Amino acid sequence: MQDTSFAILPENENERENIDYKRIGSLVSYTLIEKNELELQCENGYVSIVFYRDDIVRIMMNPKKVPSKKTSFAVVKEPENIEVSITENNDGILVSSRKISLVIKRDPVSISVFDQDGNVIVEESEHGMGFNEKKEVICYKKMEQADHYYGFGEKTSFLDKRGEKMTMWNSDVFAPHNPEIDALYQSIPYFMTIRNGIAHGIFLDNTSKTLFDMKSSSTSYSFSAEAGQLDYYVFAGPTPKAVLEQYTDITGKMPLPPKWALGYHQSRYSYKTEQEVRELVKTFKEKEIPLDAIYLDIHYMDGYRVFTFDEERFPNPEKLMQDLKDVGIHVVPIVDPGVKEDPEYFVYQEGIKGDHFCKYMEGNIYYGDVWPGNSAFPDFTNSDVRQWWGKNHKFYTDLGIEGIWNDMNEPAVFNETKTMDVKVMHDNEGDPKTHRELHNLYGFLMGEATYEGMKHQLNGKRPFLLTRAGYAGVQRYASVWTGDNRSFWDHLQMALPMCMNLGVSGVPFCGPDVGGFAHDSNGELLARWTQFGTFTPYFRNHSVLESIRQEPWSFGEEYEGVIKTYIQERYVWLPYLYTLFQDASVTGVPVMRPLVLEYPNDKNTFNLSDQFMIGSDVIVAPILTPSTNHRVVYLPEGNWVNYWTEEKLAGGKHHLVEADLNTLPIFIKEGSIITLGTVKSSTETKENELTVHIYPSENQTATFDYYEDDGKSFAYEDGSYFKCTMEANLINDRLDITTNIQQDQYKPEWDNAVFVIHGVSSELGISVNGKEQKNREFTTDNRIRLSLKIQDF
Ligand code: NOJ
Repeated sequence: MQDTSFAILPENENERENIDYKRIGSLVSYTLIEKNELELQCENGYVSIVFYRDDIVRIMMNPKKVPSKKTSFAVVKEPENIEVSITENNDGILVSSRKISLVIKRDPVSISVFDQDGNVIVEESEHGMGFNEKKEVICYKKMEQADHYYGFGEKTSFLDKRGEKMTMWNSDVFAPHNPEIDALYQSIPYFMTIRNGIAHGIFLDNTSKTLFDMKSSSTSYSFSAEAGQLDYYVFAGPTPKAVLEQYTDITGKMPLPPKWALGYHQSRYSYKTEQEVRELVKTFKEKEIPLDAIYLDIHYMDGYRVFTFDEERFPNPEKLMQDLKDVGIHVVPIVDPGVKEDPEYFVYQEGIKGDHFCKYMEGNIYYGDVWPGNSAFPDFTNSDVRQWWGKNHKFYTDLGIEGIWNDMNEPAVFNETKTMDVKVMHDNEGDPKTHRELHNLYGFLMGEATYEGMKHQLNGKRPFLLTRAGYAGVQRYASVWTGDNRSFWDHLQMALPMCMNLGVSGVPFCGPDVGGFAHDSNGELLARWTQFGTFTPYFRNHSVLESIRQEPWSFGEEYEGVIKTYIQERYVWLPYLYTLFQDASVTGVPVMRPLVLEYPNDKNTFNLSDQFMIGSDVIVAPILTPSTNHRVVYLPEGNWVNYWTEEKLAGGKHHLVEADLNTLPIFIKEGSIITLGTVKSSTETKENELTVHIYPSENQTATFDYYEDDGKSFAYEDGSYFKCTMEANLINDRLDITTNIQQDQYKPEWDNAVFVIHGVSSELGISVNGKEQKNREFTTDNRIRLSLKIQDF
């Protein structure tokens, strides 16, 4: 039997003094190692402090000396060349960059971080940093009355994680049930605190089992790890968006996905034969439901051997892929990490010959039971193994496949612990560590191997990767779906805070299985879930083996109509969503966001778990309960416009809104610009029109930076994109619109833009780029439409 137990430290902070847990002792000496790096020698251990930027500091604590230059695979950034000043007095040592100061107390050593105005950002509580005989490390911080916590990856329960206790240990948890919020598939040991409108972040870079306890005390919280050292980063903010920029500067940004990956995707465990796949696509076409991708779950393979096709069920994959490509459909096959133990199977042979599989220290290969039966697991902590695995994807790219779905990569094993034996060793680029120490990295590194391999093989085309497991930084390689949910209304409800918190954790490209994976869905649930999916960054309908069919037409015409409308609506919103994706790939600020990210001073947003924003100006409030035709929506300060009815609603309060089955409540902020299209599938012939919706607000400039590129290559990295700043100013019954092209190396396919100005009178004087617009059309819903050629931009 394997020992995977984690000695959970006593919940009550005072009781912890009674166990063998030792606080780091008093300061013996300190050395300035580099101009931004300090090492403290303490009575019973070492503390290193490295400033990565003026607003990011890394703090490490370990009983023994550890080279501070080493980071986990999550970190992509080297410390910047900055200088800190050091002053000493009786109270301690003050280390300051241009933006933050650290106060280091001497006896015992404790570290607090202050902003440049002297306000405390994070402060150790009286138990400070410590470790016990099992080498578990822990750090206690003060919790303030006003603190609210966000992030922690894909945890369930409500948005605000104050009062929660969360374990990070990537786990294959079939259909986790509310209020079970513990270890799920992803581990992102990072969170953001918002306190009185000011934000800061903490990232505990530790790949073993970690625990965040925001529950046991109302005056302090702790983060601890079962193995490895205490190694955490403080991001000084001060805005929530600044924290995201800082965190993703350390762990990396999401690369811009191919546009087809933003469309509607259809999956099922499994579409089992070529015939079934062809019929599925035919039905989508006949019913004119837009579709960009279909998924092949484990039955496409020969006995679940990855990098193979079952010859009977899929006799001619080349032809199938080509035919689907011809009608604009991408195929995304599943690839699991377990390689079947089979001496006649080339991947297993290569793995053995190349010494690519995880082994025990004694040299024997670790085998675990997964879909193919007894299987070996590639050791992705070794770069040669990652390259080998990546190269094998040529099998798929040669068939024209551009997207891969990584599953079971926690890694999941069908045994009691649900994963690999924690005593298995990983090469870890020549610094061997146990699986216990590196468990949470497995899926992340499989993602790196897959993404980089696909990218290389695709020769300039953007790959798409979907993963179930991951660690901090997973956004660099993959989009994330939230695993095996159930076709229950409460799982639809949970999906909102899960995705919002993934976004706050640096993972903008995420979404749940639409319709619910396990159990039988139903028409109403699928319709409401699809409405929500229209605005989740990742939009895939997926369902389990032997459950009721869940394709858009499965529950009769009424539901089919609603589902089709909202899948189409997704394509209408693509030009806006794509711009937000591009923004996220540069700033780290997610596409789908909790309201608190935009309104951190508004207490009504702190735990608002059933509505969300797309960008800064759009609120989406899905219906999340059955037989319900209304709901309460909170609209923050400002004025808002109902997207469907044009009704104006005052912000700063709650509204009761009607929403029959056909209606997903959407609200646009007055003083904003939204760019929509009319495209019906991301790959079908483009319409030659962009629609620019302007919701003007008196004396306030509405502005939007519209972005577009070819949607498939990396040419944008060399400047081949189109970027245009649009502005609209409403002053004394005149609207002045300006368009400013910032970059035009890519020529958009539309040559005509229709401007729709909302909530105005027919008398409104309008100019575009200084030219008075006489040729316009007024409609009774108080809108004015006018057209502009792209040459006039
Ligand atoms: C587990 C995944 O979470 C699910 O989406 C998939 O259908 C099954 N594995 C079978 O591959």
